[in-house]
Amino acid sequence: MNARELDSAYVKQQKADQELDYLNQAIYSLGNTLIFLLTAYLVARGQLEFGLIASVNDFSLYLFGSLMNIANYRGQLVASRGLREKILDLRQPLAQAEERGTTPAAFSVKDLRLTFANGHEIKYPDIQIKPGEKVLLTGANGTGKSTLFKLLVGEAVASGGQISFFDQAGKKVKPDRTKIGYLPQQAVLLPSSVMNNITMFDPELESKAKASAADAQLTEAVDSWPQGLETPVDLAGDNLSGGQKQKVVLARAEVHDSQLLLIDEGTSAIDQAAGRKILDKLLQSKQTVVLIAHNLTKEERDLFDREIKLSA
Ligand SMILES: Nc1ncnc2c1ncn2[C@@H]1O[C@H](COP(=O)(O)OP(=O)(O)OP(=O)(O)O)[C@@H](O)[C@H]1O
Ligand SMILES: [Mg+2]
Repeated sequence: MNARELDSAYVKQQKADQELDYLNQAIYSLGNTLIFLLTAYLVARGQLEFGLIASVNDFSLYLFGSLMNIANYRGQLVASRGLREKILDLRQPLAQAEERGTTPAAFSVKDLRLTFANGHEIKYPDIQIKPGEKVLLTGANGTGKSTLFKLLVGEAVASGGQISFFDQAGKKVKPDRTKIGYLPQQAVLLPSSVMNNITMFDPELESKAKASAADAQLTEAVDSWPQGLETPVDLAGDNLSGGQKQKVVLARAEVHDSQLLLIDEGTSAIDQAAGRKILDKLLQSKQTVVLIAHNLTKEERDLFDREIKLSA
């Protein structure tokens, strides 16, 4: 709906642009014809030397070029006003919607399904996750585990069924999905310091960053870096190992203290001993945690309240 509105505003702008081009061409041609006639007249009457014609022509190009530019810029401003207003209009309700939403602590899905553009369909079993529950989500590759998280955070849109969110008291709420702690399968790091990657540029969280890094078993690495938490993450994130990257995003999740945490294989690259410590921390927390993992031992799996296994 929003995208469509934006699209139609864009089409209108394109149309206005084309009309403007046409007008400019018309002005330019007409002006040039007038100058040509005037020049011919002056030459014929002996009032203008032939050599001057070239400079007159330059002058006309310059003059009309400038006029065209002015008309163009003004025209673009006028033509894009609708689009600019539209963008502002669209932004406002989005911002307001997020403001009004409540931090979700639990969710349920019913008859949920998603058909991709290529026709591939995923159907989910009905799932209810209670506030504070610790759930392990498993299933073979391609059964839709990651896609379920994307549907929950709004990165993917369901073709049918319902997703409901609940607060800590179990009351159904309109969610602010930005408050869901979501760790995608590929750790997303920004080209900034490790500190900023943990706090996501919120200076108020800096005092808690060290403790969160410790809980994510990152202390040893941080201590070994000369710049500590201020170590820059390079653009490709290649100066951190795969496990260290996962630890940074786990620390990010902890420092932001979400009530609902969705972790997509967030510990897959972390060594057994550190992974176990992180798991223990997560499972002791008050947060609702849904963790996707393939490589847990039987003992680790038993630490969860329950396991939901998706099948194709
Ligand atoms: N954009 C897309 N277009 C078409 N099919 C897709 C798209 N995204 C995912 N799929 C398909 O949906 C299915 C579920 O993908 P998803 O990533 O959710 O699986 P998964 O359970 O997380 O698997 P894994 O254990 O390998 O991470 C797969 O068959 C995948 O090919
Ligand atoms: Mg996946």
